[in-house]
Amino acid sequence: VKVLVELSGENPALAEAECTSVLALFGGSIDGADAGLPIGTSFRYGVIGEKYDARAFADRLALAHRVFRWLGEGAAGSICAAAEKEAQGSSLPARFDWFAGGEGTRTPPVDEIAAAYRRGGGKIQMRPPHRSFWLASLGPSKTAFLELIGGTGRAALREHRMPNLPFQRPVSLQPCLARAAVNLAGVRPNDRVADPFLGTGALLLEAGLVGARVFGSDRDVEMIRGAGRNFARFGISPTALVTADAADAVNELPWSALDAIVTDPPYGRASSTRGEPPAALVQRVLPLWAEWVRPNGRLVRIGPGTALDLPEPWVRLWSIPDRVHRSLTREFEVWQKGAGPRTDQ
Ligand SMILES: C[S@@+](CC[C@H](N)C(=O)[O-])C[C@H]1O[C@@H](n2cnc3c(N)ncnc32)[C@H](O)[C@@H]1O
Repeated sequence: VKVLVELSGENPALAEAECTSVLALFGGSIDGADAGLPIGTSFRYGVIGEKYDARAFADRLALAHRVFRWLGEGAAGSICAAAEKEAQGSSLPARFDWFAGGEGTRTPPVDEIAAAYRRGGGKIQMRPPHRSFWLASLGPSKTAFLELIGGTGRAALREHRMPNLPFQRPVSLQPCLARAAVNLAGVRPNDRVADPFLGTGALLLEAGLVGARVFGSDRDVEMIRGAGRNFARFGISPTALVTADAADAVNELPWSALDAIVTDPPYGRASSTRGEPPAALVQRVLPLWAEWVRPNGRLVRIGPGTALDLPEPWVRLWSIPDRVHRSLTREFEVWQKGAGPRTDQ
């Protein structure tokens, strides 16, 4: 199944890494081939595995502005036939839009294709709810036929989540960035995911919402209680939450191995390290937790600088800066314990 993803604009490098990581989770990859769509640089083609659902793929992404399913490409006749087929068995009305190409490009034959859709028994309606079909001209006699299947972008995810979180603090990570981190960690349903520096629980909440089992620790009991309320609001039951220094909490791990660690350690601004240099705290704690990660599992650390150093077989897949404000840029640092693919698909 071919998809077209429009990356959200705030941090294109982070959005691209997220897209790459989620495509891999859906048995696919970014398709390097340029299909010649004249629509700008923020679009990426991807292919997802046959057994996966394109809408579930779209729902998983936090940093995608729009996600399209590729329904076909070809001469007007073949796209009309494809549109007629889409209309059959679909009770929802549809609207047709098209990508305006650059100078010298043609407008796709929208009316002809919409007429074919009606012939197939479909209705056209501009106001929602509707299916949203998109057309793009691919050269003089070729048209691409796509359906918009999702994508919300950062602001929408924040608007959905934040008002429903009973416990928020200045350290709370935005839900969209937490979701992006969980995606970069390659988390799958039923995975065992840990956060040693839980805070208000933003990261493990997103991991729980994609179906993972979660374990968190924080030395501050107010955070543990508050994160517990946040999880409860969204129907997530953590496997365990522990109030302890993170170096001790690792001894309470409820599983024999971890699939992923996602964490946002303190760096002394909104959240204190009680005098310990933030980089020293990261290096004191995370290698202990990293030992429990299974082969080819991942660790995502959010924070400034390159505070973390992990021994072989760990490899750093990405380190992507994200600007918080003028004087603070944090990295999304993605590590994997070995360079291989995940084997227990
Ligand atoms: C940056 S905040 C985490 C924010 C979190 N991602 C969220 O969205 O709310 C870091 C957390 O680490 C906790 N912390 C600081 N030092 C710790 C330590 N030595 N062991 C365990 N937790 C610690 C702090 O209490 C704080 O809640």
